[in-house]
Amino acid sequence: MKFYILTILPGYFEGPFREGVLGKAVQRGDVKIEIVNIRDFADDPHRTVDDTPYGGGEGMVLKPEPVVKAIESVRNNEKKQRVIAMTPAGRLLNHAIVRELSEFEEIIIVCGRYEGIDERVLEYFCDDLISIGDYVLTGGEPAAVVLIDAVSRFVPGVVGNRKCVEEDSFSRGLLDYPQWTRPAVFRGIPVPEVLLSGNHKEIRKWRMMKAIERTLKRRPEIIREDLLTEEEREILKHLKVRLGK
Ligand code: ADE
Repeated sequence: MKFYILTILPGYFEGPFREGVLGKAVQRGDVKIEIVNIRDFADDPHRTVDDTPYGGGEGMVLKPEPVVKAIESVRNNEKKQRVIAMTPAGRLLNHAIVRELSEFEEIIIVCGRYEGIDERVLEYFCDDLISIGDYVLTGGEPAAVVLIDAVSRFVPGVVGNRKCVEEDSFSRGLLDYPQWTRPAVFRGIPVPEVLLSGNHKEIRKWRMMKAIERTLKRRPEIIREDLLTEEEREILKHLKVRLGK
């Protein structure tokens, strides 16, 4: 899968795609990243990419010409592409959107800066606007890294164990169950006894209960009862009564 990142801060991306699982995927070529400097498409001697907003107001707005030229430089009708602008005014990123995006061959990501991008770019030259959360970042660059990281997990070969990806928390509307590792007692705090029991049936059931319990407490809105097994639905019913939800 290939990602193009259109940005006025090309140096921003020197680190994130060199490390960890994503770094390895890039090295192997399973994930390709190409940085496109929007400034290279400015055609005045000062390489201007921004201007003041029509109607007045604070800050600067990214000009349409260099951004659209940058998009057009990587557009390819032969490929299944999607052009996405990162903006806090976009639809909120979630598991379903990440999955949907992983079906594309190439994703072109436009990073906003200043007070925003000229609306004509968003309306006529982008397929989708995406926000990574209800807060404002200094620009779309960190949001682009988040998007690429999440989408790349669905690219075959990137995460060694497919099961981890298919069964990750959000695909089933439940948070993951909690985990512990050695030592059995850390600063006086013990690991839950059931995990040391060796009784795998009990452990499986206990983990299921813990996953449902923490989801009910922290993120009740993500629970999809239709995706739960009969056993999980039964636990959910009991926990709801117990927790008064
Ligand atoms: N640019 C600034 N804030 C953002 C956000 N929350 N999501 C995506 N892009 C952004």
